[in-house]
Amino acid sequence: MSTEYLSTEAKLYPVPKRLLDPSLSPTPHINSIEQYKKLYDESIKNPIGFWGKIARETLTWVTPFQTVFSGGFEHGNIAWFLEGRLNAAYNCVDRHAIKNSDKVAIIYEADEPGQDRKITYGELLRDVCRFANVLKAHGVKKGDIVTIYMPMTPEAVVAFLACARLGAVHSVVFAGFSAESLRGRIQDASSKFVITADESRRGGKTINIKNIVDDALKECSTVERVFIFRRTSSEVSIITPRDVWWHEEIEKYRPYCSPEIVNAEDPLFLLYTSGSTGKPKGILHTTAGYLLSAATTFKYVFDYHEGDTFACMADIGWVTGHTYIIYGPLACGGTTILFESTPLYPTPSRYWEVVAKHKITHFYTAPTAIRLLRRFGREHIDCHDLSSLRIIGSVGEPIDPDSWKWYNEVVGRNVCSVIDTYWQTETGSTIISPLPCAISSKPGSATLPFFGIDLAVLDSTTGGEIKTTEAEGVLAIRQPWPSIARTIYNDHNRYFNTYLKPYKGYYFTGDSVTRDRDGYYWIRGRVDDVINVSGHRLSTAEIESALIFHPSVAEAAVIGVPDDLTGQSIQAFVTLKPNCSTDVNDLILQVRKVIGPFAAPKKIYIVSDLPKTRSGKIMRRILRKIICDEIDQLGDLSTLSDPNLINILVDKVNNS
Ligand code: WTA
Repeated sequence: MSTEYLSTEAKLYPVPKRLLDPSLSPTPHINSIEQYKKLYDESIKNPIGFWGKIARETLTWVTPFQTVFSGGFEHGNIAWFLEGRLNAAYNCVDRHAIKNSDKVAIIYEADEPGQDRKITYGELLRDVCRFANVLKAHGVKKGDIVTIYMPMTPEAVVAFLACARLGAVHSVVFAGFSAESLRGRIQDASSKFVITADESRRGGKTINIKNIVDDALKECSTVERVFIFRRTSSEVSIITPRDVWWHEEIEKYRPYCSPEIVNAEDPLFLLYTSGSTGKPKGILHTTAGYLLSAATTFKYVFDYHEGDTFACMADIGWVTGHTYIIYGPLACGGTTILFESTPLYPTPSRYWEVVAKHKITHFYTAPTAIRLLRRFGREHIDCHDLSSLRIIGSVGEPIDPDSWKWYNEVVGRNVCSVIDTYWQTETGSTIISPLPCAISSKPGSATLPFFGIDLAVLDSTTGGEIKTTEAEGVLAIRQPWPSIARTIYNDHNRYFNTYLKPYKGYYFTGDSVTRDRDGYYWIRGRVDDVINVSGHRLSTAEIESALIFHPSVAEAAVIGVPDDLTGQSIQAFVTLKPNCSTDVNDLILQVRKVIGPFAAPKKIYIVSDLPKTRSGKIMRRILRKIICDEIDQLGDLSTLSDPNLINILVDKVNNS
């Protein structure tokens, strides 16, 4: 999305008074900018003391840690809480079930309205134990990688936590990915186990996801067992002895399974994400550090209090779902909403019906959903009682100030804190966000860093740090925090080269940023080939390679173009091989097949040639300018091999 409209001179929106009034709201954990600054300074000057104390208070350890932190960006050998031993599922379930087994852990809001279901901590414990016993009986053990490809059901949460209970590593693949993408992730992880469902339901549509799994597994010789949860009870193919039914298996096992105690630095999960090249990266997070940051940001960034009902509308297949549907809320003993549907099903009122029905206190979604609902008009919102809401957040892409204001006024009715949270799969948890009862907002700015996040703005050409308060450059971080990804699975070199090598001594985010005179951060977008469509992270190289796999395609260039609804949209230019033909729909189908429907380009132009430098490099910058109707700003064309091509491409775009 174009961020040029983001003026750093924006008006300050102070914390709504209601959140600071003890007769109307719980007493905030952090209630002033002074309190934030004091804790923030302490977290940066004395990270060992700061995180050591929080880690002892927040998590339940079987063996206490001795070393709060070791290693660093120089060598890429980061470790937190060494010698400490614990279990993530125990921390997310058992200890809360022991305290109050009737407390609701999950509210499942199924695709069809009216089919909601509540799961208490006591029930969750039994379900997780039973399923952990199933996994164990089929050979899953500590360190094994289990691939999860599931719809948004409570059983998916059970699957995450059953893995964690055994010390197994889950690798969740968003169930919108195609068979080919799923296959690539299973193969990269050499996963022996897959957990899936017969079908998924979303927005009234049914998708046979078992078929997708079968297709993916055609070339996955490592997979020994597939566990199938019955979501819709439709007939699906069963391949014996590989496939087993969840409901049949759980009948056979006890509802208790002792947790496997793991080391703090043992992996908790892998999550594949897009990078600059075509091959997705298996981002690896470890147990204690990740869980601690998930819980700590959940508590402070959302100002979570006992009794709150938290709704994160993301999918569990993305990092936002991992951290703020599952690990953050459950580590804090909270009540989390699991929403299976879409914002428009069956009507554009769905979110607000859910908020009113469950008296939701926190609502967290992506700017794309906010922009979409804004188009449908406020009449879908005004008729619902949203008075339970206290904090509303956005994540995943920049939020434009107009949408921020609309969100604040129409959803938040000017009495909620709006938090624009910036983070990444690699950061594991939010790293820049207002604290809702302490930091005034500016629409479009994620404001200030979370505790322990030592931000730096670097000059992208010299690599030097820009020390003035007002600064513009690339965003980097000076010291590790507990939930930073530790490696890319099987490719530590790529981890090092992507994040730690570009600017020695720093973690490089890949985003550009402006820091204004108040020290507020304004994220400007990626400086690499990652694009963000509806909050879904994609790589242009990944889409290009999907297109090139088509037998008729010779070359492809994919670009992210600003889009009013989805933030960015995907547009592609392709050339065909001699004597080959195809049409745009076939090419779109190709991308859906190789990556998934959410990666389908909005527009594809079949052209005779692509603009290239004399050495043959495709000049995507020129294509972007042509699409954005900025041909008067094409810049230096002296390296372009065929200047006549520009007019041909402009005609093509204008006439398509
Ligand atoms: C972008 C999602 C602006 C950013 C949690 C980042 C944002 C990428 C924001 C990570 C925000 C995320 N404002 N941009 N509040 N949040 N981004 O790994 O470009 O799916 O690098 O993690 O999304 O996407 P990912």
